[in-house]
Amino acid sequence: MRAPRVRQWGLWGSKDMTVMPPARHRPAAKRPMWIIVLLCLVCVVLIGAYVYPPRHYSQCYLSASSVCTPFKDWLPSIGRREKTDDEIISAAVIRDILGMPMSTSKNPKIAFMFLTPGSLPFEKLWEKFLQGHEGRYSIYVHASRQKPVHTSSLFVGRDIHSDAVVWGKISMIDAEKRLLANALEDADNQFFVLLSDSCVPLHSFDYVFNYLMGTNISFIDCFQDPGPHGNGRYSLEMLPEIEERDFRKGAQWFAITRRHALLILADNLYYKKFKLYCKPADGRNCIADEHYLPTLFNMVDPGGIANWSVTHVDWSEGKWHPKSYAVADVSYDLLKNITAVDETIHVTSDDRRLSAS
Ligand SMILES: *[C@@H]1O[C@H](CO)[C@@H](O)[C@H](O)[C@H]1NC(C)=O
Ligand SMILES: *[C@@H]1O[C@H](CO)[C@@H](O)[C@H](O)[C@H]1NC(C)=O
Ligand SMILES: *[C@@H]1O[C@H](CO)[C@@H](O)[C@H](O)[C@H]1NC(C)=O
Repeated sequence: MRAPRVRQWGLWGSKDMTVMPPARHRPAAKRPMWIIVLLCLVCVVLIGAYVYPPRHYSQCYLSASSVCTPFKDWLPSIGRREKTDDEIISAAVIRDILGMPMSTSKNPKIAFMFLTPGSLPFEKLWEKFLQGHEGRYSIYVHASRQKPVHTSSLFVGRDIHSDAVVWGKISMIDAEKRLLANALEDADNQFFVLLSDSCVPLHSFDYVFNYLMGTNISFIDCFQDPGPHGNGRYSLEMLPEIEERDFRKGAQWFAITRRHALLILADNLYYKKFKLYCKPADGRNCIADEHYLPTLFNMVDPGGIANWSVTHVDWSEGKWHPKSYAVADVSYDLLKNITAVDETIHVTSDDRRLSAS
C-alpha cells in the first residue's frame, strides 16, 4: 500500500518534468537536460531508498542472503567494502608469489609427500615405480600415529617431524603444511604431490613426471556444493573476507606447483578462518581439509588450478569416506579401469547431483 503510493509519486514527478510548459522567460525553455536527468535520478534513488530501506544493505553484507543478491548485482557499488589490513597484506604477498617464475631448477624433482598414520603398506610398489629415476624425485613421510617400519631403502630416513592428526580437524592441514615446509627446503622440488598410505601409482614414473612438469597449473579438486555437506558447512564468522559464494569443496589429495606450495605456507588470513570456524562436530561438521585449499585457491588463483585432482578417489557412494577397495576387489581390470578414468565426478550433497569436469 505504501510502496505503490511512492511509485505513483515518482511517476508524477517525471511527468511534471517532461510536459513542462514553455515558460515565459526564454532561458527557462532551454532548461538544461541535466536538471531533468538529475531529478529523474533523484526520483529513482528516493524510490529505491524507500522500497529498499538501508537495513537491507547491511543484511546483504551480513548474510549475503539470496533475497537481496539480485539487488546487489543491480547496484554493484553497494556490496563493495573496504579491505581489511589482513587482506591488504595477504594480497601483496600472494601477488608476488603468483608472479614468481614457474621453474627455477635445472634438475627439477617431484616431491612425494606421504601423509600416513604409520607404516606404508605399498612401499615396495612405490620402490618399483621410482627405480631408475634417482635424482628426479624426493620422498617425505609424515607418520601421525606410529613410527613407520620401512620395507624399502628409498623410504629410510625420510620421516619428518610429525604430530597427531585428527580426521576432519585443522591438524590435517597442519600436517600437510609440515610436509610442504620440509619439501620446499629442497630448491629442486618443483611439484608437490600429497599421497596417503593407500595410494598406488597407476602410470609409469616418466608419464607422471612429464605430465606434471609439462603444466603450470596445480591439480586441486574444487567445486561448489550447495548442499548440507558443502555450503551447509560455511560459517558466517568467516566474513568479511570469505563469503558464502567463495566457499568450495574438494577431495584432499593434491599435486601442486612450487609457488602454490609457498602460497599455502604464506597464507595466514584464510588459514586462520578455517582453523577457528571450520571444525567437525560443531553442528555444521566442517571438514577443514575438504574446504580450505579449494576455497583459498578459488579466491586467490582460480585460473591456476585444474579444479580436479590427479589422484583418483571414488565418492560415488555419497558417504563420509570414499569407496575403499578390499583385497578381493583389486584386480588387473579394476586398475585398468581406474587408469582409464578421464573425468572427475563431483558428487554434491543437495540432491545427489553429479557433475563432471
Ligand atoms: C601457463 O601455460 C599456458 C600455456 O601452456 C600459458 O598460456 C600461460 O600463460 C601460463 N601461465 C603462467 C602463469 O605461466
Ligand atoms: C577452475 O574453476 C574456476 C572457477 O570456476 C575457473 O575460473 C578456472 O578457469 C577453472 N580452471 C581451469 C583450468 O579450467
Ligand atoms: C571395468 O570396466 C568395464 C567396462 O566399463 C566393466 O564392465 C567392468 O566391470 C569393470 N571392471 C572392474 C573390475 O571394475
